[in-house]
Amino acid sequence: MDIQQDIQTKIYDVMASGNTPGSFYLYDTRPMTAKLEELKQKLPPSVQIYYAMKANGHEAFLKTALNANVKGIEIASMGEGARAIDAGFSFDQLIFTGPGKTPEELLWAVENGLDKIHIESLIEAHRLNKICADLGVQQDILVRVNPNFDIHGAQAKFSGDSSKFGIDENLFMDLLPDILALENLNFKGLHVYAASGVLQVEDLLENCRRVFTLACDIEAAHDGLKCDIIDFGGGFGVDYLETGADFSVDIYAIQLFKLIEKFGFEDRQFVIELGRYLTADSGWYCTEILDIKTSLGKKQIITRGGNHHFRRPVALGINHPLSILPTNTEKVFEGQESVEDEMVFIGGPLCNSVDKLAPKDIYVKKAEIGDIAVLGLAGAYGLSMSHVNFLCHPHPPEIIL
Ligand SMILES: Cc1ncc(COP(=O)(O)O)c(C=O)c1O
Repeated sequence: MDIQQDIQTKIYDVMASGNTPGSFYLYDTRPMTAKLEELKQKLPPSVQIYYAMKANGHEAFLKTALNANVKGIEIASMGEGARAIDAGFSFDQLIFTGPGKTPEELLWAVENGLDKIHIESLIEAHRLNKICADLGVQQDILVRVNPNFDIHGAQAKFSGDSSKFGIDENLFMDLLPDILALENLNFKGLHVYAASGVLQVEDLLENCRRVFTLACDIEAAHDGLKCDIIDFGGGFGVDYLETGADFSVDIYAIQLFKLIEKFGFEDRQFVIELGRYLTADSGWYCTEILDIKTSLGKKQIITRGGNHHFRRPVALGINHPLSILPTNTEKVFEGQESVEDEMVFIGGPLCNSVDKLAPKDIYVKKAEIGDIAVLGLAGAYGLSMSHVNFLCHPHPPEIIL
């Protein structure tokens, strides 16, 4: 991984300042701004872009999304909603997704006039309807469907299997009349988010194609019903393995235009909720190398921070790009071990076997004790997904370039 000069300088400065516990996240949100600009230019104008803040809820990312004029924020909890509001979004820019929304969260959402609530089950629909009836208000909803199909090549799948997300496609047709009969809910359309981390544009377009077909089937089965809004989730992939297979927004945009035309859906609104694609390359996790030793012929690099700071690589079993920044640190003793052109283990100080910063052995050209290990593409699902309290180690600060 090549790290830009200004990022490297900042990493050295922060480490040398002594103001961190030797591990930190560095964020530079310029790539996010550029991506949002590109998406707005290239996608059909009927596609509304929401930022899925679960990828990184730091204020810097929310403000970047705000300044880039995204349509709004996709939240998955009341806590995320509060953060989005603090960053400057308004309640009518929030859409609320995710299974297991509590009655308190639903009440909060309705009382504050959230734009749309995405229904994940029949219980949730009834619960929400009762809240709306008690308050004497109407609420716009999308209904989330767990599709029968599976997306190839995804890093995480939310479809094609028994799932806590949404209502099974097979059951949906039977249950929809019950939802439509709920007097305080306005059915606006569908939400189908099948997979995350998809690099093949064609696979993600297949999701769109199938969702459009489902919308047509629903409308054919229910006289007068229209899916005005179709949300096909996030899922744009990030090339963590740096194989050069970046997600092509150009192809996606062109094909989506064609698909919309083919289905005669020019009068519909579409929603995408992007997280990873917007933020992954805006973040680096940096941590000092404390120890290097050989165990059964393989070098073990031990860093100050471990997967309590950066759990994602192990959670998804995918290595992130790793760079070692040299520091010329004074040796602890003459003859201490170092790494030279070899495959190594790298992990932190936790007393469990899953504390790895790279789930698979990873190539390191050169590393010495005191050098800085930098994991790239760490701007999405980094700190927020990590179990920072384990073993009471210090939390890594988040530093903005
Ligand atoms: C409902 C919903 N929308 C959007 C996202 C963001 O997905 P991604 O980061 O792959 O773009 C997720 C991720 O889990 C999600 O569950």
